[in-house]
Amino acid sequence: MVDFTLTDEQKSLRELAHDFAEREIRPVAWELDRTAGWPQAILDKAHAIGLMNTHMPEEYGGSGLSYLDGCIISEELAWGCSGVQTSLGANSLASVPVILAGSEEVKREFAEELVAEPKIASFCLTEPGAGSDVSGMRTRAVRKGDKYVINGSKCFITNGSYADWFIVYAKTDPEAGHRGISAFLVRKDDTIVVDKKEDKMGQRASNTATITFAETEVDARYLLGEENKGFKLAMRVLDHTRPGISAVATGISRAAFEFASTYAKERVQFGVPIAMHQAIQFLIADMATKVHLSRLATWNSAVLLDQGRRNTLESSHAKRFAADSAMEVATDAVQVYGGYGFIKDYPVEKLMRDAKIMQLYEGTSQIQRLVIARETLLPRRIEEPATATA
Ligand code: CAA
Repeated sequence: MVDFTLTDEQKSLRELAHDFAEREIRPVAWELDRTAGWPQAILDKAHAIGLMNTHMPEEYGGSGLSYLDGCIISEELAWGCSGVQTSLGANSLASVPVILAGSEEVKREFAEELVAEPKIASFCLTEPGAGSDVSGMRTRAVRKGDKYVINGSKCFITNGSYADWFIVYAKTDPEAGHRGISAFLVRKDDTIVVDKKEDKMGQRASNTATITFAETEVDARYLLGEENKGFKLAMRVLDHTRPGISAVATGISRAAFEFASTYAKERVQFGVPIAMHQAIQFLIADMATKVHLSRLATWNSAVLLDQGRRNTLESSHAKRFAADSAMEVATDAVQVYGGYGFIKDYPVEKLMRDAKIMQLYEGTSQIQRLVIARETLLPRRIEEPATATA
């Protein structure tokens, strides 16, 4: 049955997230953008009312919300500010690999800490020489007795400056390409240097840093899954997290669409509000369609996960479409505002900058097209369980 009617519980979650975005995020969003500040006070409040780590299974003390629930919440928070939402939501990138591949003991240890306190965990995949091409990474992990020793540097790490834990992908068999990568849970210690906080174009309320591991020792029990199976784990993680990113893009599109609609009804040119001109109506209509279809594609990709099905194709459809739409809708919103749209005193300039990263992080729009083309032209049978709880 195809039915996206929200349950009463989902409507309440949406209301909770929307009220939070309206009261706690929107009023400070443009100031956080200006200062590139870290929204710790917002994180503390969001954690206290259950808007962080929403996917953490109940058996580990979490709220065990579905992926669809998570997308409903993420859209609202991103409507408030996608930079703040990225700070709030990036723990999911780090916790999905633990839930998918960690031992019971490690899952419990990690989950209990994140549920108890607004702690931060970062996902360290990207390197200066390995962005889209994950298997080109150079970070090394060498087994020594009951430990691994990690050396290497990761860049563009979301929340990196504030993380207590890192999920680190490293080569354990450098000759084996993507079949020689393993994933580790690494607690912050003084062998880890966090620097180069990036001065970004948009989503400036999210922190992005470089993390360097110098002879960092990790207990072998923190190896996630099997040695040399880290690449596939990373791919499965991205299948799980791209719906949430698509929801963020939808939140940006919706905010831009709403600002542009309101402005079009107020701004008078040629004796009538500009919303009376067909040129503007068509822009608004296209924005409305893109918001609507972004949300549908997002929810579809999340529901598949909730049903325990692999969603590689659908999560790339959603991420590609919602991200590209966010950029288009925000750009058109600036167009509706005319010259005022280009000025920082008006809200849509920030949205256009924020939207850009949606086409870059968690797989560029080109990588999503690559995945879509491969899944469409040469569909592969991948046996691993799809759900985080499977
Ligand atoms: N699930 C499970 N297994 C998968 C899979 C999936 N979704 N996709 C691929 N695999 C398997 C393949 O079946 C193949 O298996 P075999 O070894 O058995 O043959 C193996 O993985 C290798 O697959 P490919 O040949 O497709 O690998 P590739 O090197 O061509 O790369 C890619 C594929 C899609 C380009 C991939 O590298 C990719 O997704 N790159 C983008 C990375 C990315 O999104 N980075 C963002 C970092 S996170 C971020 O931005 C975080 C932030 O802070 C916000």
